[in-house]
Amino acid sequence: MKNIAILAGDGIGPEIMAQGLKVLDKAQELFQLDFAYHPYVIGGAAIDEKGTPLPEETLAGCRTSDAILLAAIGGPKWDDAPERPEQGLLALRKALALYANIRPITVSRHTAHLSPLKEAIVVGSDFVVVRELTGGIYFGEPRELIDSQAVDTCVYRAEEIRRIMRKAFSIARTRRKKVTSVDKSNVLATSKLWRRIAEEVALEFPDVTLEHQLVDSAAMVLITKPTVFDVIVTENMFGDILSDEASVIPGSLGLLPSASHSEDGPSLYEPIHGSAPDIAGQDIANPLSMIYSITMMLRQSFSLHEAADCIEAACDSVMAQGIITKDLGGTAATSQFTEAVIQQMTLKRGG
Ligand code: NAD
Ligand code: IPM
Ligand code: MN
Repeated sequence: MKNIAILAGDGIGPEIMAQGLKVLDKAQELFQLDFAYHPYVIGGAAIDEKGTPLPEETLAGCRTSDAILLAAIGGPKWDDAPERPEQGLLALRKALALYANIRPITVSRHTAHLSPLKEAIVVGSDFVVVRELTGGIYFGEPRELIDSQAVDTCVYRAEEIRRIMRKAFSIARTRRKKVTSVDKSNVLATSKLWRRIAEEVALEFPDVTLEHQLVDSAAMVLITKPTVFDVIVTENMFGDILSDEASVIPGSLGLLPSASHSEDGPSLYEPIHGSAPDIAGQDIANPLSMIYSITMMLRQSFSLHEAADCIEAACDSVMAQGIITKDLGGTAATSQFTEAVIQQMTLKRGG
């Protein structure tokens, strides 16, 4: 039996987690899987229940799990809390040393016309953002906020850059063998070191091509010529911003999953988006970001490719029938969309 820590969180988090687990339940039945779910509170829900966004039981449960599923945290209710929900997620990433955040972006031929960008621009887009997740300005010290000034510090140690570069090059090796390293080396010291180490690591991967791109122009190329990218590797905050921007290529933040890996412990799988307070409680969120996070888990933590293929093919068929949620211009409710996916899974498995 494999143990999955379930962190539903806040806002649309519990809604999309419930739908994702229905899909996983169906996969368990169709493919005789043996996953046990262990729910824990995190974020705002944990502040309300336990007074802290990452309670000890939650962290301990995650540490001893085989994988972690997280939906989303945060919301206006906790804007003025002494410790915000976001601190819980950042502390979890840091505590488990989840330094490599993998954010794949692809465009299905069934939905390319749904992108706000021209179809001709987005068709064929297929790239991965490899975001460094435990360093940079998110975690650097000193950090200060007083009335007269505020300070954040961006720090990268060479070893932190080297390990994320190696991860990006290893992924590129399994794909089209091109890495685009995104930095701001015309201004920032951390980016100068980033670029130097990218060059060093490239020597270990002679079959992979390395390009450098400054982050400002990368933000432009991302939505004018997204098909040029294969693997984008970048530091924590640039990766955060560029991946949300990249969601306009397939057409919605509600489509994008991610995986976060450490060197040994359990991996964490979560949508790239947040708790979407503007649509919470209405059964209109797109559950695909959560469903695809689950298929990433099945593949990357458990090598269950057949079950993941079945779920993804079912999602494709549902979208091909024009069943889509509101974010993509459709009318399907979150729960209706999921029911349609589950039906397709049964059909595909010959049930
Ligand atoms: P958001 O990602 O929650 O929402 C941005 C926009 O995308 C909203 O219009 C929302 O309705 C839409 N959206 C997001 N997910 C969707 C889905 N599955 N289906 C349909 N539409 C979807 O960003 P925000 O509004 O800036 O942040 C809200 C809260 O979420 C904040 O507290 C923020 O800190 C937090 N947040 C958490 C995470 C996380 O849990 N990993 C990530 C980002 C933001
Ligand atoms: C994300 C989110 C988080 C981040 C926030 C909620 C701390 O935006 O997962 O992309 O900035 O990493
Ligand atoms: Mn983000």
